[in-house]
Amino acid sequence: MGVAVAVADLPVPRTRRNVGSGREAPVGVCVCRSATNNEGMRARAAKVLLIGLWAAISLAGADARAASIEQASCGKPGEAPCPLQKWMRANVAAKLADGDMAALAEGLEKAARLVPDPAWSSWVTLAMSGAAAAKKADVAGARASCKGCHDAWREAYRTKYRLRPIPR
Ligand code: HEC
Repeated sequence: MGVAVAVADLPVPRTRRNVGSGREAPVGVCVCRSATNNEGMRARAAKVLLIGLWAAISLAGADARAASIEQASCGKPGEAPCPLQKWMRANVAAKLADGDMAALAEGLEKAARLVPDPAWSSWVTLAMSGAAAAKKADVAGARASCKGCHDAWREAYRTKYRLRPIPR
């Protein structure tokens, strides 16, 4: 009797069919237990799934945040250099330091093509005049184009285009 009541009290519809005959009651308890266990397992599985989902979503969010933080803060000491910064060092500054005027001229001609906005027309003329000076081995003239462009455009470039990848 006690068993039957206990079974009847359990909110699993399948087990209610077993209530009524004393002999079936133990089976009912058994079925009922396994049913509740199944339900518990399903609930647990759902919970695990939810936690997994939540973890995946929050991890993805953290990844996106980390990536944007990383990109937004290039160029400071200890951080990766920004694209044009890195490009300048390798293609222009290094050539000037080596005294390789032909390579410097080539670098400055490329720099002219890196103008990020066609409205920045003096960017192009400064870079091209530097290239012309480098071709004549006029180091002072080449240097003047560095300073001219840096004074005119470096701040604006950093503000608007710092993360811009170098186009091929
Ligand atoms: C037409 C424009 C232009 C010319 C010409 C130019 N630069 Fe630049 N350069 C820039 C800009 C813009 C930046 C800033 C990039 C940044 O910080 O993201 C820069 C950055 C640099 C940097 C990186 C500095 C740092 O923060 O580490 C070096 C080095 C550099 N230039 C060297 C030179 C030299 C040397 C020349 C001349 C031989 C030269 N540049 C000519 C536009 C120019």
